[in-house]
Amino acid sequence: METIFRGKVSLIHFLVRGLAVAATILLLIHGSHAHVDRVEILRNDVDTLHVQRPNISSSDATHDEQWRMIKTRGSQFVVGDQPLYVNGFNSYWLMILAVDPSTRGKVSEVFQQAAAVGLTVCRTWGFNDGGWRALQKSPGVYDENVFKALDFVVSEARKYRIRLILSLINNWDGYGGKAQYVKWARDAGLNLTSDDDFFSDQTVKGYFKNHVNNMLTRVNTYTNVMYKDDPTIFAWELMNELRCMSDPTGNKLQAWIQEMAFHVKSIDPDHLLEVGAEGFYGPSSPARLQANPNTYAGQVGTDFIRNHRVLGIDFASVHIYPDTWMSGATVEAQLKFVQAWMQAHIADAEITLGMPVVFTEFGVSTRARSAFNATSRDQFVQAVYGVLLNSTRRGSAGAGALLWQVFPEGTDYMDDGYGVVLPRAKDTARIMSAHSRRLLAFNSRCSWSCSWGCRKEEQSEDGDDLLFHEL
Ligand SMILES: *[C@@H]1O[C@H](CO)[C@@H](O)[C@H](O)[C@H]1NC(C)=O
Ligand SMILES: *[C@@H]1O[C@H](CO)[C@@H](O)[C@H](O)[C@H]1NC(C)=O
Ligand SMILES: *[C@@H]1O[C@H](CO)[C@@H](O)[C@H](O)[C@H]1NC(C)=O
Ligand SMILES: *[C@@H]1O[C@H](CO)[C@@H](O)[C@H](O)[C@H]1NC(C)=O
Repeated sequence: METIFRGKVSLIHFLVRGLAVAATILLLIHGSHAHVDRVEILRNDVDTLHVQRPNISSSDATHDEQWRMIKTRGSQFVVGDQPLYVNGFNSYWLMILAVDPSTRGKVSEVFQQAAAVGLTVCRTWGFNDGGWRALQKSPGVYDENVFKALDFVVSEARKYRIRLILSLINNWDGYGGKAQYVKWARDAGLNLTSDDDFFSDQTVKGYFKNHVNNMLTRVNTYTNVMYKDDPTIFAWELMNELRCMSDPTGNKLQAWIQEMAFHVKSIDPDHLLEVGAEGFYGPSSPARLQANPNTYAGQVGTDFIRNHRVLGIDFASVHIYPDTWMSGATVEAQLKFVQAWMQAHIADAEITLGMPVVFTEFGVSTRARSAFNATSRDQFVQAVYGVLLNSTRRGSAGAGALLWQVFPEGTDYMDDGYGVVLPRAKDTARIMSAHSRRLLAFNSRCSWSCSWGCRKEEQSEDGDDLLFHEL
């Protein structure tokens, strides 16, 4: 999604919510059969649970066997020897609100509410270039105060046992993006005519590589752990929704992805890396073009199959926006598209690419112009989860989905129509929680009862009930 909110945040007085659900989630992750009951408790009594939160200090990180780097094995994620299927969310604004002490608590609040429904991955912006509360004020010049805010976000995520996908730059103008990088180069005297010069100009590519260096080698002032060594970071994302309209062949973007993937991996070989594109099929797979939402989508310079064959890219990322891609279509038509869109990418990830696929943004607006309202949005969320569960059961490549987007209370001024405030959206929260519960059961089930690889064969009737029983 384009995030255009750049306004001033007004002072907000918000409730201190004493819930300590992280403790329960911690137990869940380590747990055995007992964890299912605990999620049940979460689901029903999110607002009445009072659990003593464990003391988690940063030094625990090195002694915590579970808190390891995420890896891939074939088309699955693994942590240690266990498979990992994820349910997660987007909150792009975390660093921005963490800058100001009066809004910093919103970061903890959203993590707490997300953890309470079992979400384990959050995707957020690891950039803010030029402009208001910029992280990078000019090429290579950082605001230490804003970097400390990002340190706080990473350290706080760890406490709630949420891993972060950090995106490194925006295709769109929100928070700077490629246009800001090109402007910097122009200000330095270069004759650049298009924002797409971001992908090809040596100087601009140098700026970006330098940003990558500065992010990956940042030492967190809260935890003392270098970002590139921190398992709290699930993955790096090259760019949010990259497109290169000036070159529909896709060659320009492909070269940029290759160069930058190599660069990231040369500094940080341990973390996973994904591209960040919306997942449109392009010229390399003409037979798949019909899976795109429209003809235009195949001409934006991205190419799902080709982009993901790049050395260093570990998993596929795809977005799902039926309402903006197919505006005017009925809810039914849009849901039908969603199912086919997901199934095509899951099949390609498994068979053609041999890597997991995460639907890193999925959402619909419930504003007037959209076909969706709160009820049909829940139907959409359930449809997405349904396709993923179907994949998980078959041991296929569908590895997770991240809702766009979760807000805590009192941040409505940022809502683009896609926002979900979990304590207010009880039905949505219940659906999300049920999905997390199924994935948790699946993730831990394998570690109790079978070694890697025997999962599909040894799935009992009982297990299927656990995974598919409708709540
Ligand atoms: C956790 O912190 C509380 C209060 O700071 C303290 O009373 C308790 O003993 C600590 N528990 C552990 C396990 O360190
Ligand atoms: C800038 O580049 C364009 C095309 O790349 C060219 O037409 C133009 O003359 C150049 N301007 C200057 C001042 O060099
Ligand atoms: C949502 O829209 C459907 C029709 O698509 C309608 O039946 C339902 O009552 C609406 N729900 C709400 C909460 O407005
Ligand atoms: C489950 O996946 C299979 C294989 O892709 C597909 O044929 C079937 O329609 C899917 N079912 C659902 C409910 O998505």
